Amino acid sequence: MASARSTPPGEFVPAPTPDVPPSGPLRSEGASPVMAQYLEIKRQHPDGLLFYRMGDFYELFFADAVQAAKALDIALTKRGQHQGQDIPMCGVPVHSAESYLLRLIRQGFKVAVCEQLEDPAEARKRGSKAVVRRDVVRLVTPGTITEEALLDARRHNYLAALAEAERRLALAWLDMSTGGFTVQHVPEAALAAVLERVQPGELLVSDRLLQRPELFETLGQWKERLTPLPAPRFDSDNARRRLQAVYQVEALDAFGAFGRAELAAAGALVDYVELTQKGRLPRLEQPRLLGDGAVMEIDAATRRSLEIDRSIATGDRRGSLIGAIDRTVTGAGARLLLQRLSAPLTDPPAVARRLDAIGWFVADAEARPAVRAALRGAPDLERAQTRLLLGRGGPRDLAAIRDGLVAAAALKTALESRQGDKLTVTPDELAAALVDLGHHQVLVDRLRRALAPDLPLIARDGGFVAPGYLAELDEQRALRDESRRLIAELQQRYAAETGIAALKIRHNNVLGYYIEASAAQADKLTKGEQAQRFIHRQTMAGAMRFSTVELGELERRIAAAADKALALELSLFDDLVGEVRARADAVARAAAGLAVLDVAAALAELAVEQRYCRPLVDEGTDFVVRGGRHAVVEQSLAAGERFIANDCDLSPGRRLWLVTGPNMAGKSTFLRQNALIAILAQAGSYVPAEECRIGVVDRLFSRVGASDDLARGRSTFMVEMIETASILNLAGPRALVILDEIGRGTATFDGLSIAWACVEHLHEVNKCRALFATHYHELVALTGRLSDLAPYTMRVKEWQGDVVFLHEVAQGAADRSYGIHVARLAGLPAAAVKRAEEVLARLEAGEQSGVVTELATDLPLFAALAKRDHKAREERDSGPSPLAAALAEINPDELTPRAALEALYRLRGLLPDGNGR
Ligand SMILES: Nc1ncnc2c1ncn2[C@@H]1O[C@H](COP(=O)(O)OP(=O)(O)OP(=O)(O)O)[C@@H](O)[C@H]1O
Ligand SMILES: [Mg+2]
Repeated sequence: MASARSTPPGEFVPAPTPDVPPSGPLRSEGASPVMAQYLEIKRQHPDGLLFYRMGDFYELFFADAVQAAKALDIALTKRGQHQGQDIPMCGVPVHSAESYLLRLIRQGFKVAVCEQLEDPAEARKRGSKAVVRRDVVRLVTPGTITEEALLDARRHNYLAALAEAERRLALAWLDMSTGGFTVQHVPEAALAAVLERVQPGELLVSDRLLQRPELFETLGQWKERLTPLPAPRFDSDNARRRLQAVYQVEALDAFGAFGRAELAAAGALVDYVELTQKGRLPRLEQPRLLGDGAVMEIDAATRRSLEIDRSIATGDRRGSLIGAIDRTVTGAGARLLLQRLSAPLTDPPAVARRLDAIGWFVADAEARPAVRAALRGAPDLERAQTRLLLGRGGPRDLAAIRDGLVAAAALKTALESRQGDKLTVTPDELAAALVDLGHHQVLVDRLRRALAPDLPLIARDGGFVAPGYLAELDEQRALRDESRRLIAELQQRYAAETGIAALKIRHNNVLGYYIEASAAQADKLTKGEQAQRFIHRQTMAGAMRFSTVELGELERRIAAAADKALALELSLFDDLVGEVRARADAVARAAAGLAVLDVAAALAELAVEQRYCRPLVDEGTDFVVRGGRHAVVEQSLAAGERFIANDCDLSPGRRLWLVTGPNMAGKSTFLRQNALIAILAQAGSYVPAEECRIGVVDRLFSRVGASDDLARGRSTFMVEMIETASILNLAGPRALVILDEIGRGTATFDGLSIAWACVEHLHEVNKCRALFATHYHELVALTGRLSDLAPYTMRVKEWQGDVVFLHEVAQGAADRSYGIHVARLAGLPAAAVKRAEEVLARLEAGEQSGVVTELATDLPLFAALAKRDHKAREERDSGPSPLAAALAEINPDELTPRAALEALYRLRGLLPDGNGR
């Protein structure tokens, strides 16, 4: 069997987005030595772009250069020829490579970064033609980035892998920059919803799975983030061995009951991380198995329509639920909050644990600001640590570790001092977080002493170790600085001795130190006695440059001291990174503890600031919200406007609310606010209400408004029906369903009929809690017959011929929609408004009320349907009826008029009652 480990890195496959296909391997005959090396490395990394390090630049050649120049909008130039053709080239400076990388990754490219693995001087020792050793040190892909500049601090960036084994699908996902690692079995029907929840930045899929027609549509949605990989990389036996090796365990049972699909997905992830990091692994947490039903399942359409993490209008956080409730002060806290909001829990005790922690901070008005102050400005421990462990961290990442751990200690003190004088016990979650913060005094002290106050971004050039930390380093630095002082003295002496007052000693990268005199004065140095001392180096337009033995000697001392100092610094850097590595798990736990505290304090802050209440989540099936508000709308109201709170009770006996009311009255707002309250409550947050009791919701569906999905080639109405179908097919008794104006995308009677049938289906078949808003007031007729259907309406006041929206939900039904009134408000021309009023009056006069009343008292639609289905099936099963058989035998073209008449009598005789009368 092909081992995943043996798959050559050449199998690395790019995202399919970049529009220029990578050209085939170029032949290397006749290439210069450097070009031959380039082509060989490119051959091993045929896909993605190759950043080929040459001195201070990453250069790109051939097709890569053409693509990158276009994508980055940088100049495309040429560099020599290959087989008679110019070689296209472009390049980006190493020091600003990150921003270019970011732009390429955003556009769906992957980049192989090829570094110089030795000093050019080293190479020259092997001969003048020798080429500097180079190799790819890292593949940069959307799911494996760790750079601060490339990541959104407040959002996880997940690398995910989808695998299949034993006819089960599993998804594993991992945030490389933090180490968090989760695996979940995914029923095929839930795949779209799970992907929407996880939002992978990059999704690994075996090319075999990509061929599966039933997955086309779902995976098509993620087309830009897909990385197809050869099927052997998803082999579950390999995966098991790989995971055992990574976690150094004999068996994986301790992680949970992993099936083969789960193993394959997790293994493929780890494998890909090793592949892209060239064998260097970041700290990976043990994969956590997310059980079936452990989180509230929210499908893609619902997630979008409820605007949980981004607003539909703008696509960003503002206007979304997370945007409205996020008061966290650290990136890690923001990530944790979003993660919780994306995956609300279904386990009441787990929810209660989170709520306890918030409650503690709500109750303690001193601890809350103290904790938030200690957290504010705390750096991103997790991500700094990952960069250091992957060998791409710098001195500032060490400082981040130091400052993060200092914040952890400060928090510990702040919290422990509060604990003492409190009567209440510290809630479990806080107690656990406190333990996680740990003790890091030794590491903090060392970093404090070792690091200079101002730190460079990268370690390479030194200058980050604090004076006084390492005696030997101080010595070398003193030597270096002393020599500089000696040079200044030398300049003075030379000026005095030669009588050239303007004589200077300068430095550049080509000559090193040199003595410079203006052209007019320079002959004082080129003649006589001085000519022996001053060795001519260079003649410039207005000046001449010289060196002396003395200066050369000094320069050597300076260089040697600087080299030694740098070597000392770099070795110290490795040392410090090693110390962080040794404490990696403890540091990661501290980071996790900080995030938990940040979220708890932030949600408490929110609860106090916005007057939220603690919800009760239990195993029942009630849904009682008293004085509920819409978290987002409430905060976006202008000053002076007040959000009107409303109650909602979907407990047994009134599970299904039929909400009618005029346009603009607040139906949609009311529907959504209850869905958002359910999400917030189960995510473990306080909720915008006075009182809230919710029996666990296992699935949330929301179909709000009509939206086109033209990108997917579906019309408004088709989308509406597909989503409605999925709700009616999937919602179980624990689901919460929000249906807003279903059926409005088609003709009135079609729409009414569909809405009608949906209400009956929800009531009779799904038996779930639901809110159903509609302008089809005819549906109210159903409330008499469906025991759990409760009619509610948005109150309005008619006042001096105007309509005032009260935004209050009250029992009862609306009789009108005031649509024309809203149209007038919106500025429809007066003539059109008047005409609409006339038409409305005419329509209302000839109302179809008779039909509607009839339907409402009709026998339950579903019983009738079932009977009809049954009959049709019977007919199908027993073959065609004798009447049909006889009819089929007749060929009208061959019948005489007389024969036709006879046939008619015969057929009539075949009717069930013999004469058909
Ligand atoms: N409870 C409330 N308190 C204050 N303002 C509200 C409230 N509910 C809604 N609003 C305001 O009224 C506007 C209209 O609300 P919404 O869209 O929910 O009405 P609607 O009944 O669904 O209308 P339509 O029938 O046209 O869809 C909202 O944008 C909001 O600004
Ligand atoms: Mg609406």
